[in-house]
Amino acid sequence: MSPTNTKKYVADAVLFAISQVALYFAVKFIIGSLDPMKDKKKEAKAKSNEVLGKLGIKAMKLNEYEEIILSEVIFADDISVNFKQIGGLDPIIQSLRESVIYPLSYPQLFKSQSGLLGVPKGVLLYGAPGCGKTMLAKALARESGATFINLHVSTLTDKWFGESNKLVSAVFSVAKKLQPCIIFIDEIDAFLRERRSSDHEVTGMMKAEFMSLWDGLTTDEDTRIIILGATNRPNDIDFAILRRMPKRFAIRLPNEEQRKNILEIMLSDQNLEPDFDIDQLVARTASYSGSDLKEACRNAAMIPIREYMRNHSTPEGELTDIDPKDMNIRPLQFSDFFVPDGTTNPNDSVSNSSGSSKNSEMLEQEKLD
Ligand SMILES: Nc1ncnc2c1ncn2[C@@H]1O[C@H](COP(=O)(O)OP(=O)(O)OP(=O)(O)O)[C@@H](O)[C@H]1O
Ligand SMILES: [Mg+2]
Repeated sequence: MSPTNTKKYVADAVLFAISQVALYFAVKFIIGSLDPMKDKKKEAKAKSNEVLGKLGIKAMKLNEYEEIILSEVIFADDISVNFKQIGGLDPIIQSLRESVIYPLSYPQLFKSQSGLLGVPKGVLLYGAPGCGKTMLAKALARESGATFINLHVSTLTDKWFGESNKLVSAVFSVAKKLQPCIIFIDEIDAFLRERRSSDHEVTGMMKAEFMSLWDGLTTDEDTRIIILGATNRPNDIDFAILRRMPKRFAIRLPNEEQRKNILEIMLSDQNLEPDFDIDQLVARTASYSGSDLKEACRNAAMIPIREYMRNHSTPEGELTDIDPKDMNIRPLQFSDFFVPDGTTNPNDSVSNSSGSSKNSEMLEQEKLD
């Protein structure tokens, strides 16, 4: 073979090798870009690495589904709500401490031969909208010291069908790896509502998988995992699910004493007029939920500020003459809560969102008890 031919063969072989490598990467790229979950997976991987870093875990083998679930973990530092900011729910907070936090944190206290003690595997917070269920769960996340998975139902369902089951089992395997752990499902009725024959097959399978893995927790006394659910539609939840949530807390519309407690917390950093009559405000906010009270306080607190701004603005509406060190804003008055702007008047029956929910909530309560 002449040297020219040898060169030609080598060049051809090199070209062939290069083309094969290029083909390999091109195919890989095309397959990668065809994967609809590519970005989500990448995002989940980054987030899960961040979460593991924050948890101080260097090496933990996780599959891609577990990585997606890990991105639902929230940390105490990222939550601003604590138990002290929740008004009127002290007995419930105490019960939550005793039935959730202590068994998770001090398992040795709750050991028994018969399995009678131990962590309840399911806890349900239910009741009227805007009364503090989500707030309680957030405060629990902050104060429990357990890993807190804020499981969004969309994470399980917003996927290509067929993968939901793998995600459901990832929820439990991640929880096991990171226990003590609270798996929180807000608006749990949307996920685990009564099964109907009209349910999509995949949805039905996902629920069945969830329930069977949940049962696995019950049989193993040593697992320190709790499913915490919140709902304002407890009657929509599958009865089999309710059975797995033996600890249930009714969060009702606040009564007079509770409203006073909530208002005192909400107004604690406000400059109030010396003769501000909080009892009268309590009396005039009957059937208000915590969130209605918050809204009323927010609207009232805006009034002195609005007045100040109006007094310090030019006819063109520009703010002027403002000394940030000496903002002489007048104290909040009782009458600020009754400025007729359609939303702040406690006597106005349409101004609170929960008035009408009271009866249905009581009915739900009766059925559950
Ligand atoms: N007991 C309370 N103490 C202090 N603030 C409260 C209380 N209840 C409600 N709030 C206020 O109302 C807001 C809404 O409450 P939250 O989201 O916890 O209601 P919820 O019970 O989860 O309602 P929903 O059933 O509609 O989800 C809270 O962010 C908080 O500002
Ligand atoms: Mg809520």
